[in-house]
Amino acid sequence: MFRDSLEDYAGYENVSCLLSSGHLMTAKWGDAIYLRGGHSLRFVRKGASMSFTKLTWGVKASFRSYVEAAGGSITVSDGAIRAEDGTFVFMAEPNSGLAIAADGSVSGAMRFKGTVSFEAHGGMLKTTLSQLGLEAAESGLVLTVLEGPMNKGRCAVAELGPVDVGTGGVTTINARITMDGMYQIADNYPPGTELDPVLLA
Ligand code: HEM
Repeated sequence: MFRDSLEDYAGYENVSCLLSSGHLMTAKWGDAIYLRGGHSLRFVRKGASMSFTKLTWGVKASFRSYVEAAGGSITVSDGAIRAEDGTFVFMAEPNSGLAIAADGSVSGAMRFKGTVSFEAHGGMLKTTLSQLGLEAAESGLVLTVLEGPMNKGRCAVAELGPVDVGTGGVTTINARITMDGMYQIADNYPPGTELDPVLLA
C-alpha cells in the first residue's frame, strides 16, 4: 500500500517505488499499489539518483563476538569508524549514487570509504572488508567489497533486500551472504546466511 504521506509526491506525474526486492516499479499519481507482506516502499522520481552519506554495517554480530572471544582483533582504518554498539560506519565517497533510468531500472553504484579487518587464531582467521559498495545487479541490490587478498577486483558479499524505509531517515536493508561473501568472510557461513542489516542514512 502507499506509504502515509503520498501528498509529498503530488507534484510528480509518475513515482517509482524501490521495492523490498531492490527492484523498482512505477505507478502513476493516484494509483494504488498493494503488496503482500507490508514492506515499506521508498518513492523516488524517475531519472533521479539516490545517494546516502553513510553506511552502517556490523557484518555479523556473532562473528564479531567470536573473533573477540577468541582473543583476536577487529580494527578499522582508512576512515571507517567503530560505533559504540560494535558496528562499523563507512562514509560515502563523493559523487557516487544509484541512478534510476526512465524505464525504472537502477544502475550505478555508491562507494564508501574505509576498511575493517578481523584477525584471530594466530592469523589463521583473517578477513578484510575494504571500500564497501552498494550496486544494482541483475538480481537486485548487492553489497560489494574489494576482493581479497589481492584487492584488485570487486565481489558481491551480500544480496540486499527487503528495503525498509524507517522513520528518522534511516533505511534498513536485510543482507544475506553470497558464495563470494562466504570465501571473503572466514569461509564459514553458507550462502544465504543472514548477516547484519545494512543501514543507510
Ligand atoms: C584453533 C582453532 C579453532 C578452534 C578451536 C575453533 C573453535 C570454534 C568453535 C568452538 C566455534 C563455535 C563457536 C560457537 O558456536 O559459539 C567456532 C566457530 C567459528 N569459527 Fe572457529 N575455531 C578455530 C579456528 C578457526 C579458523 C582458522 C577460522 C577461520 C579461518 C574460524 C572461523 C570460525 C567462524 C567464522 C565461526 C562462527 C562464529 C559465529 O558466527 O558464531 N575458526 N570455532
